[in-house]
Amino acid sequence: MKIVLALALLGASALAATELQASPFIAAADSRFGATIEGAAVDRAGSIYAVDFDSSAAQAGLVTGKQRLLFKAPGADALVNGIRFATDKLGAEEAYVVDAAQHQVYRLTGRQGADGTFAGANVFCKDSAMLQPNDIAIAPSSGRIFLSGMNYTSDSVVGNGDLWTCDPTGAAQRLGQFHRTNGIEVSPDETRLYLSEAENKGGAVVANRVLAFDLDPASGAVANKRVFVDFGKLDSTAAADIDGMRTDVNGNLYVTRNGIGKVAVFDPSGQLTAYITTPSIDSVTNLEFGGPKGTDLFIVGKCKADGTKGCVDVYHGTAVGNAFHDLGSSSGAGSVPPAGCGKTGGRRRRR
Ligand SMILES: *[C@@H]1O[C@H](CO)[C@@H](O)[C@H](O)[C@H]1NC(C)=O
Repeated sequence: MKIVLALALLGASALAATELQASPFIAAADSRFGATIEGAAVDRAGSIYAVDFDSSAAQAGLVTGKQRLLFKAPGADALVNGIRFATDKLGAEEAYVVDAAQHQVYRLTGRQGADGTFAGANVFCKDSAMLQPNDIAIAPSSGRIFLSGMNYTSDSVVGNGDLWTCDPTGAAQRLGQFHRTNGIEVSPDETRLYLSEAENKGGAVVANRVLAFDLDPASGAVANKRVFVDFGKLDSTAAADIDGMRTDVNGNLYVTRNGIGKVAVFDPSGQLTAYITTPSIDSVTNLEFGGPKGTDLFIVGKCKADGTKGCVDVYHGTAVGNAFHDLGSSSGAGSVPPAGCGKTGGRRRRR
């Protein structure tokens, strides 16, 4: 009786999800990335980058094409973890890279050609009260960045996770405190912020959920916190940590499940529509859409075949990634929107 009830409560939503399969892109034997590969990011051209290049916590590198260095953070204890590309007011490509250990975000400027390195790296925002930051999201209309972060403890409390924003001048402001926060993303219309939250009890992970907030991209203010997805209730995977999250232009949210080697896909109403499995990866840490049309979902994490290496799988879909779209269609002089990059998720608010 109890079992029948439990199955009924599991819900049609979890059971109806389509199972999709990614395919190997960088195998362990070919990888220059270490096991803590993270922070997948896309640039204007659709090239993908990630951290732990040459197994260095200070280094980010190019994933697509020939694997090579993008950026090395200074400082003996540098720990680069998240990356986002952006377009400055004059239309030039820039990048933000978070350094979790030094509680700061670098702004890289002066790009040396497509796929190239950057001539300049300055500390854009910094606050010693930041727990990390762990991952980064951006609201292109205002240029604000949003940062998650955690303090991993065996019994988590509110305050072991935080949410920060930095305005375009680099002024940092804490927006809230939570249990451990990790994945972070802004919806295509910039009216919603997604943030993952996980709870620990007695050394075990007991809750994993995605929170949603109403977002004002100009001021950075968040309001109306609600639970968008609770994996404990959805499919009993409360113990599997959420890591990086990204949206496509239709507002679907792609959530990595670090620990069960999968990506969960939700429509904007919070309905689970698909699980994408990753053949090469054990611990899925992050993901981003790239490729020439922005429709290839690159998924990164620790290799199954070699626990010292970072692997990349790719899912060839039809939806265009939101970050790729934003870079191609941003207001910068001379920037050209990629073909077939129409958003259906509502008009962007400009302020
Ligand atoms: C992290 O949590 C531990 C254990 O609760 C605490 O002692 C420490 O002060 C916390 N660190 C920060 C930076 O909040």
